[in-house]
Amino acid sequence: MSSAGAIDQLVKALQSGGPTLVLTGAGVSLASGIPTFRGTDAGAVWASNVMARATLQHFERDPADSWSWYRERHARVLAAQPNPAHRALVDLERWHAARGAAFRLITQNIDLLHEAAGTRAIVKVHGSIDRARCVDASCAASDTTVPTASLDFTAFDARPDAATVPRCAACGAVMRPHVLWFDEDYGSHADYGWPDVLEGCDAMRLVVAIGTSFSVGVTGLIASEAGRRGIPLFVIDPQGAAIVGRGVVGLREKAEELLPRVCAALGAAA
Ligand code: APR
Repeated sequence: MSSAGAIDQLVKALQSGGPTLVLTGAGVSLASGIPTFRGTDAGAVWASNVMARATLQHFERDPADSWSWYRERHARVLAAQPNPAHRALVDLERWHAARGAAFRLITQNIDLLHEAAGTRAIVKVHGSIDRARCVDASCAASDTTVPTASLDFTAFDARPDAATVPRCAACGAVMRPHVLWFDEDYGSHADYGWPDVLEGCDAMRLVVAIGTSFSVGVTGLIASEAGRRGIPLFVIDPQGAAIVGRGVVGLREKAEELLPRVCAALGAAA
């Protein structure tokens, strides 16, 4: 349990006016029934899967396995509902707007729960499980993502195979999930919003990181920038902050329990 002092510190930091950058990871959606990747929860993704499965190389080698895996996860996401953490972040965004203070939420999550709760200023830097695009980057259509629901998976569901994976209407190449894989760059597609991440990073005066183990690039960038510029970085994680450094304050709390309390203390609760 965090000290009341640390929670007060977070409330005071938020009252100092921002710009506030909120960075979320899988831990914020665990209470909605979506497992983390590296957490202590029973269904943690990398506890039962190899990370190589989340690569372009794997998709190119075995698109049927990749799609079967994402469709399974998509079904779980579609069945999930936002939890009090997602809703409190909407209240926090509105509270900033009412004060004319800047707020941006960068999520590593490919689920739809922030949007479903009502978050507006969001950057989905790892993509979104409900979107797909042509795998061939030289195809003009690959610049645009389409709803996965607009693809016909009838043949694929009957016989999951590379030959039955839905095809690009423009060039006939296979369609791929619009998610960022480990062997890809953040700049590899405009819809990851990397320029917005860099802009948010430049503007931030306060960072609140929620439910992330700081294991991948975007979190490293934001944490190192915050450390370099002496910007307070609050980390909400029941396991404690996965990083240490100047200005880092760990709050050993569950997001769904702490964030509504923070909003209540700010007078931001809807
Ligand atoms: N509230 C807050 N944090 C929580 C909660 C909770 N209720 N439950 C668990 N956590 C914490 C865990 O302790 C863990 O530190 O959330 C963190 C989740 O870490 P990861 O599973 O590593 O997820 P994340 O940091 O989002 O992973 C980053 O790596 O696997 C790739 O692309 C994938 O986006 C993902 C990226």
